[in-house]
Amino acid sequence: MKNKIPQHVAIIMDGNGRWAKERKLPLVAGHKKGADTAFAVSKCAHEMGIKWLTLYTFSTENWKRPASWLADYNKLLQWYLDSEITQLIKNNTKLHVIGDISKFSTPIQEGLFKAIGDTQACTGLNLVLALNYGARHEITRGVQNIAQQVIDGTIDVADITESTIVKSLYTCDMPDPDLLIRTSGEQRISNYLLWQVAYSEFRFSEKLWPDYTAKNFTEDVLDYQKRERRYGQYTDAL
Ligand code: IPE
Ligand code: IPE
Ligand code: MG
Repeated sequence: MKNKIPQHVAIIMDGNGRWAKERKLPLVAGHKKGADTAFAVSKCAHEMGIKWLTLYTFSTENWKRPASWLADYNKLLQWYLDSEITQLIKNNTKLHVIGDISKFSTPIQEGLFKAIGDTQACTGLNLVLALNYGARHEITRGVQNIAQQVIDGTIDVADITESTIVKSLYTCDMPDPDLLIRTSGEQRISNYLLWQVAYSEFRFSEKLWPDYTAKNFTEDVLDYQKRERRYGQYTDAL
């Protein structure tokens, strides 16, 4: 086995709408079932000893969807924040958020801050929700922050390093993802963690996210463990 248990797995939970459409259900039913998958995969990740799990929950581009979908999706998000957070505490899961949550309604923002506060002391899995997250927005915001530091005279241009950029990102306290999984057969990155996945291993599943199981997740992690990560270097075999 080449790799140990990944420290950080990032997931693009795609295919919720198609799952609902196939069943002639309202689209939000797919997202509700998808949230069950998210809880099951989080539990599995914790049991495997994975420390960080980052779930792409809502992208900066998803605001372009129809108003009725947005209303249903936001209602569902609110419901989860109001009623399901105790599940996180029970599983010793610490919640984090990346993205600009100021665009969500006040009750959703308050629910998120409360959930982050309530799970602060949890020592198990770090569960990161990417909400109104877009990597281009994240990098733009970071560049603005560094430019301001230059203007303020707290940093010289010559002293800007990769580490300065890492510190300017939402993910500054997190390791880079070792493994990135996308479900639903799509093979694209959709503006997710562009800086952070520079050397991540990718795995694409044909399963729609609501159909994806803890067993599928375990298989994906096992596949990752067989890979050889070279980081641009020669290996001993050569
Ligand atoms: C991904 O599921 C989750 C969000 C964008 C919130 P989709 O809603 O994109 O599902 P499909 O791709 O339409 O099936
Ligand atoms: C990516 O899925 C965003 C989330 C999973 C939250 P999308 O369904 O929005 O991405 P595209 O439109 O297929 O690229
Ligand atoms: Mg999609």
